[in-house]
Amino acid sequence: MTTSTTTSNVTVCDHPIVQHYLTRLRDYQTPTSDFRRIAIQMSRALVYEAMRDLVAREAGVETPLGPAKGVVLSDYVVIAPILRAGLALAEAAQEIVPPNARVYHVGLKRDEATLQAISYYAKLPDKLPAESKVYVLDPMLATGGSAIAAIQLFHNLGVKQIHLVCFLAAPEGIKKVHEKFPGVKITTGSIDSHLNEHGFIVPGLGDAGDRIFGT
Ligand code: PRP
Repeated sequence: MTTSTTTSNVTVCDHPIVQHYLTRLRDYQTPTSDFRRIAIQMSRALVYEAMRDLVAREAGVETPLGPAKGVVLSDYVVIAPILRAGLALAEAAQEIVPPNARVYHVGLKRDEATLQAISYYAKLPDKLPAESKVYVLDPMLATGGSAIAAIQLFHNLGVKQIHLVCFLAAPEGIKKVHEKFPGVKITTGSIDSHLNEHGFIVPGLGDAGDRIFGT
């Protein structure tokens, strides 16, 4: 469905429709109602792209005209939205992943003075199958603090395959995530220029959570 460029575990989805959505999201004139709708469309495309790494095993199927080859998804899929802004991605992901996918919410708030991620909610199981595929969802990868805190939770549970999906990433955030977790895949709509002195992605799109929820 999508086109992409992948280097060292980072995939930038350069499909023109994704880039069109991203442009609308960047536009400061896009109102909340449109922003939220476009964010979900963008999420759907990025999650499709990220989930290319799912494993499907062969399984036959009967069409009205007879037998056909088919597949069935066999991975243990976990969706992990980082609250709040990751909820838009989770809504889209739940529409397209197998119905038995698990959703575990991770509540992290970035302290705007120190830029440290503060955990306020994490309701995770005691263990997950080691072969689980966890998709951590958050529109913004800025300093990387929030992503690393979320990834760490699943790493602590023994999960090896973790994939971060975001609309935008700063080079600083990608570097920090990969310094700590080199095996984590990242799928993004763009790698932007840099972080400003307040830790905001430039040019970015502003505060995704505020724009999705109108706050
Ligand atoms: C934003 C964003 C990420 C985080 C990125 O969330 O949605 O979760 O900051 O920054 P980082 O890479 O420097 O950690 P915020 O903390 O503003 O919370 P919100 O989603 O509730 O608005």
